[in-house]
Amino acid sequence: MKNLQIVLFAFLMVLTSCRQDLSERTSWHVYKADAASTSYSDLDQIQRGNVQDLEVAWVFQPDDAPAGSSFGKYECNPIVIDGVMYATSAQRWLYAIDAGTGEELWSFDPFDGRRGGGMCRGVTYWEDGADRRILFTAENFIYAVRASDGSQIMDFGLEGRVNLHENLGRDPDSVRVTPTSPGIIYKDLFIIGGAVSESYGASPGDVRAYDVRTGAWVWSFHTIPHPGEEGYETWPPDAWKKIGGANNWMGMSLDENRGIVYAPLGSPSYDYYGGDRSGKNLFGNSLVALDASTGEKLWHFQSVHHDLWDYDLPAPPTLLQVQRDGKVLDAVALSTKTGFMFVFDRVTGEPLFDIEERTVPGSQIEGEESWPTQPFPVKPKPYARQSMTTEEVTHRTEEARSHVLDQMQRIHHEGLFTPPGPQNTLLIPGSRGGGEYGGMACDPQDGIVYINSNESPEIANVQKVESGQNRGLSRYERGAAFYDSYCAACHGPDRKGQLPLYPPLDDVSTRLSYEDLFAKIDQGYGRMPSFGHLPEQQIRAIITFLLSEENQTERTVHMEDPVDEGTPVVFHNITGHSYFRDPDGYPAIEPPWGTLHAIDLNTGDYKWSVPLGDHPQARKADDPPTGSENYGGPISTAGGLIFIAATFDEKFRAFDKDTGEMLWEYSLPGGGFTAPATYSLDGRQFVVISVSGDTERPDGSIMAFALPAEAIN
Ligand code: HEC
Repeated sequence: MKNLQIVLFAFLMVLTSCRQDLSERTSWHVYKADAASTSYSDLDQIQRGNVQDLEVAWVFQPDDAPAGSSFGKYECNPIVIDGVMYATSAQRWLYAIDAGTGEELWSFDPFDGRRGGGMCRGVTYWEDGADRRILFTAENFIYAVRASDGSQIMDFGLEGRVNLHENLGRDPDSVRVTPTSPGIIYKDLFIIGGAVSESYGASPGDVRAYDVRTGAWVWSFHTIPHPGEEGYETWPPDAWKKIGGANNWMGMSLDENRGIVYAPLGSPSYDYYGGDRSGKNLFGNSLVALDASTGEKLWHFQSVHHDLWDYDLPAPPTLLQVQRDGKVLDAVALSTKTGFMFVFDRVTGEPLFDIEERTVPGSQIEGEESWPTQPFPVKPKPYARQSMTTEEVTHRTEEARSHVLDQMQRIHHEGLFTPPGPQNTLLIPGSRGGGEYGGMACDPQDGIVYINSNESPEIANVQKVESGQNRGLSRYERGAAFYDSYCAACHGPDRKGQLPLYPPLDDVSTRLSYEDLFAKIDQGYGRMPSFGHLPEQQIRAIITFLLSEENQTERTVHMEDPVDEGTPVVFHNITGHSYFRDPDGYPAIEPPWGTLHAIDLNTGDYKWSVPLGDHPQARKADDPPTGSENYGGPISTAGGLIFIAATFDEKFRAFDKDTGEMLWEYSLPGGGFTAPATYSLDGRQFVVISVSGDTERPDGSIMAFALPAEAIN
């Protein structure tokens, strides 16, 4: 009897492991391939010898952008279950698509006819027998929808949805949490974080788990500890009631067998000043390993103490195996915006390469006590440049070089972790990385990871903001000053935007009515944050400024911000997120501006590094590719290939995994600002990528590539 049980058990194990292999490695049933965030596929129909023959198999073109939409940056990494693809559009409708033909099967509009949007990197699948669900978020709600027909499951949460503003320990009307990355499933739990404001008064960034069947809240992990919780002493006493951020906007990974969820966290708010949050600020910028059933913390690692740079951990960490002293170890690899890669034992949190606390430059801002040291891993070496010498200033043209050199004279920079000060401060890497939300791909058994990176220096300048209500400024002038404080960081001091990331606002008077403008600023939409926390007259002053006929590009920039009487003195990064560029708009640093790397985590050594992307007009014909700023991630396949889009030159590329040689490239109709996905259907391997829209075609699209049918048979 016992023997029979063992045999049966063994048989079942084989069955389940086959099933797992099948579903995990030849389909794409979870964001970034699997719960381990490997972005790896066992498929090898497309390989080095035939990747050049790839052709467009189908294009899915939603038609859901409301009139007047200007923009559609689209970051969805779709999932595929039993031949059906589930993805959101740039307007954040949920779609089921025939994964073989691209034909739409159904759609679900979570906004019920209202204007949609909001960054959504993907959706989550769960099944129990015939109960098959897609869980996804829009605004501050989790929705559960039947995978079969897209109908909303009305007994999930309250009338078919769960309000993420509840169970945060603060007044639900005063918080704002809008997830941008998909949640992850552990058994019958849906675990999710969320994006929150990066400014003062941000909402808390708790990681939370919900019952996947009922939507009931099950546990929370307080990323800003409450009294009595570990890490509480790393903040001022009532920070847990007032300070926000330290949030998981970038998604998580899960060790399904051990039941451990790995949640990377962002910086505490406000991003660039921490005088009101003195201390190390746990668990800001930390990787926390949590018991997935209870939310109890098992171990953590803080990658930046008391962040002043917006160095959020940018992506779900990758779970893989590495060799150490002849033994196979289960590891977790963590990418960062700073260019550091940290590698840990997945269970104990022991670093696999030493990490040294090194002294870093101090703050020059009143009231700000920067943390004296920061963690530096001894290996692997950083995958992004962390300082900029005179030699590294652009040589593109004589004029560009001398312009940047001249600026460098007045720029404060003491290397990595120089706190932004009242003088222009160079941040390299900047808040855009280094590594970004696309994270890494890996070869799960070989210990090799692949990561794309930005080399995109930024300038920060943190100024004290004082009340100027009674200084006799006109409404236009006050609006201009508010604009400089709150809007210029993204839409540019000259209102020309920073495409493709931020739309221009110098032409809004021709496109949007006063009411439209008010609604967009007050409520936010898409990736445009809400400014509903500003007093109404401030929003009206900004609109006066935006709609004014006055020549706005010639005006003097107001360095001081006349905030309302009664608002405490605060500090703002008045250039926040602003690129450091040469006069022609190219990065102020020598290329490469974007890179792709293969790192062997068994040894910590690099296999190869190559430029990713190219701006041929910015270099001499014989020079290597310049690389390009990039957002998205790589995937790795058993066909020996790395597929990645991501670049601002809007190409989709395949690289040889062993050498980094580029084997294929294709010009997309827009930016592919996400990781691709790959799956096999009826004997044919597909590689798909979501493509962003533009002003003419804001909907965006999903493009599928495959080998010609003749080549397969
Ligand atoms: C963190 C970056 C960020 C900041 C700060 C920001 N915006 Fe935006 N804004 C965006 C993005 C991104 C979009 C496009 C949204 C989309 O399509 O998803 C946008 C869109 C808009 C639009 C709509 C443009 C159009 O053509 O339809 C307006 C108007 C606007 N923003 C005004 C403002 C104002 C006014 C401020 C300051 C109070 C501001 N924004 C601050 C990122 C930002």
